[in-house]
Amino acid sequence: MRGRRGWRADVLARRKRRVVCGRGRRQVLPSMASVPPSAVAELRTDYYASTCPNLEVIVRSSVKQSMAQSPISAPAALRLFFHDCAVRGCDASIMIVNSNGDDEWRDNQSLKPEGFQTILNAKAAVDSDPQCRYKVSCADIMALAARESVYQSGGPYYEVELGRYDGRVSTRDGVVLPHANFNLDQLNAFFSGLGFTQPEMVALSGAHTIGAADCPFFQYRIGSDAIMDPGFASQLNDTCSSNPNAFAFLDPSPVGFDNAFYRNLQVSKGLLGSDQVLYSDMRSRNTVDYYTSNQGAFFGDFVAAMTKLERIGVKTLATGGEIRQDCRFPN
Ligand code: HEM
Repeated sequence: MRGRRGWRADVLARRKRRVVCGRGRRQVLPSMASVPPSAVAELRTDYYASTCPNLEVIVRSSVKQSMAQSPISAPAALRLFFHDCAVRGCDASIMIVNSNGDDEWRDNQSLKPEGFQTILNAKAAVDSDPQCRYKVSCADIMALAARESVYQSGGPYYEVELGRYDGRVSTRDGVVLPHANFNLDQLNAFFSGLGFTQPEMVALSGAHTIGAADCPFFQYRIGSDAIMDPGFASQLNDTCSSNPNAFAFLDPSPVGFDNAFYRNLQVSKGLLGSDQVLYSDMRSRNTVDYYTSNQGAFFGDFVAAMTKLERIGVKTLATGGEIRQDCRFPN
């Protein structure tokens, strides 16, 4: 774990803001499940077939390049997509930069710049094709980039429904997200507010098969969480005590999308409390055990849950959406 710390040293050095989850943040349950079904009905996989026929190839190639430039790119883009959809729906509002500093992405549990850059790169690549220029929403590019992040990390391929419009609003107040110290009831309450069942929440959490977390998200568990494997705890202690900007991987194969995340929970080596609780709480243990023994089932359920995530709060032209020219600013 410590030997691989270098791969994100540049990010950590560049980070100016650091927000620690689970401390002093107001908890409010989301209510995106009440999204009008008509908005969802407009999504389809061939939405850009005539306006930007090469869209998928362009995004695939761009994400591949971003991943080659940084191993943080894929996990950061996948996480960014979740944080976008869970707040105001999948409308790329997380990409908006407001000049007064009141926007979603700031104060948002240390989202990594590589995730934003992956989306901006893909948008630039799409708009460099004259046929596609300003015709594809940032929200759709985010959904495709999330799929590519999963697929190009070794995970399942799945068709992405398209036709989202971009939102025009992003405020700090709207940000309500789950925290790394959540117990199962808190996780269920949050995800049911988005329309997910407990098994779907366990499947979505499998996204933590790639990427890493900064020490403040799990350091409080070291020495105080009796469930954590003692050897793992001492390893984490070494990592975090020697460098305040250190991080640890969410599972032992952090660039590979597989079911090792769940196997890791069985041996009490889950990094985040909200991950380990999926196994320590008997109500969700069966699902973890199932995915441990059947990676194909995990992949299938993850795809189904991602497809559901992708439909949350979709904007249309009729509901005030637009195709943003620059993902960072409403037109
Ligand atoms: C179940 C509730 C969840 C909680 C409490 C949670 C919390 C966290 C935290 C604290 C981190 C570490 C952030 C950092 O240090 O930079 C993280 C990383 C990550 N999360 Fe989650 N998350 C949850 C669900 C999800 C979901 C549903 C997805 C995607 C579908 C997701 C994708 C990721 C990814 C890919 C990373 C690695 C990011 C990186 O390496 O930069 N998470 N999550």
